[in-house]
Amino acid sequence: MHQRIKRNELKPGMFVVSHGLGTFVSPIVHVGAHIFLQSQIQALVPPDVEDVLIDTAAAMPLPDEATPLGAPVTVSLGEELPAARRLYSEALDYVRHFVDGVRRGTHADLNAATPLVESFIESVFRNETAAVTLFKLRGFDEYTYTHSINVSILAVLLGKHLGLGRPDLLKLGLAGLLHDVGKARLPASILKKPGKLTESEFRAVQTHPAESHKLLLQHENMPPEVLRAVLEHHERHDGSGYPHGHKGDAIATFSRIVALVDVYDALTSQRVYKAAMAPAKALSLMFQMRGGQFAADDIDNFIRCIGVFPVGSFVRLSGGEFGIVARANPLRPTKPEIKVILDSAMCPRKPCTLNLEALEGTPESQDIAEVLSPAEHRIDLERYIDA
Ligand SMILES: [Fe+2]
Repeated sequence: MHQRIKRNELKPGMFVVSHGLGTFVSPIVHVGAHIFLQSQIQALVPPDVEDVLIDTAAAMPLPDEATPLGAPVTVSLGEELPAARRLYSEALDYVRHFVDGVRRGTHADLNAATPLVESFIESVFRNETAAVTLFKLRGFDEYTYTHSINVSILAVLLGKHLGLGRPDLLKLGLAGLLHDVGKARLPASILKKPGKLTESEFRAVQTHPAESHKLLLQHENMPPEVLRAVLEHHERHDGSGYPHGHKGDAIATFSRIVALVDVYDALTSQRVYKAAMAPAKALSLMFQMRGGQFAADDIDNFIRCIGVFPVGSFVRLSGGEFGIVARANPLRPTKPEIKVILDSAMCPRKPCTLNLEALEGTPESQDIAEVLSPAEHRIDLERYIDA
């Protein structure tokens, strides 16, 4: 619902539809963005604007600054990152071998999937951000493989935030790893098609949850929850999904978790035909599906879990320089640690780390002014991410 408010009443979490300082020909300026921080208001709405149109239905409940996000980290990002990197390469080797096996029609080896997901769970318990940090460092050419690993790790992370125990996390992680395996049976001409799919191509794509399900059914001991999540990962809360068009609670919890993280990873990944979307933009877009394609609670839990500025986000600081979110701040989600890498003219500078919380109240105090897409600015995050 649209509501007109004063500029000084704008708060983080609100969705600004427009403000009225355009030209005579086009008097209304369309904004269409969420405010994540007080400091963003300046960039979105000029100071001489008095009234702003907001959409109250689109307001986003930002994580409460006083509510700790996630469990305490048991090892530092710097310590965990090399282990997470090794684990990620191991996972890539396994998924490549597995998917190529399915493609050739040979028997897919599922035995290694369980220890692999167990390693993801251990990594997430040691340090939540290390494995997640690696997501954005991978090339788009390997999306087929990296996507299943990302979905598996993200599903484990979200499941952990929801308080699930390790046996459930294992099932969730397996479902994430194997959810799209049926796609290996589709022709590459459809999977890699950059443009819009024809109706018959889309119908072919829609068979992949059932194909994945059929493949996994051949394996004894595949937990029924995994089979169901794989079959239901394209079902949507409002009944608009496939294959069955199930609605609301008719879709299992694990299926809803895999569906959320599947969409998030697809949006934030670079593909042959599209740049990666910045995490905050992806969350904002998914928030518009709250109560529609996704249940309101599911979206709220996901945003609390991922945080507004996930590690690896490329940001502009209020002082003008650019950096990468190097460490989340669970107690103050909007005040993470930033590795500054570019000056205000976007020229490389000697990297330095700023702790936004520690700087608060000092003359050097800064905020995150904007989240940007590294791909659009041709920034190679991997060069800078190591702790
Ligand atoms: Fe899928």
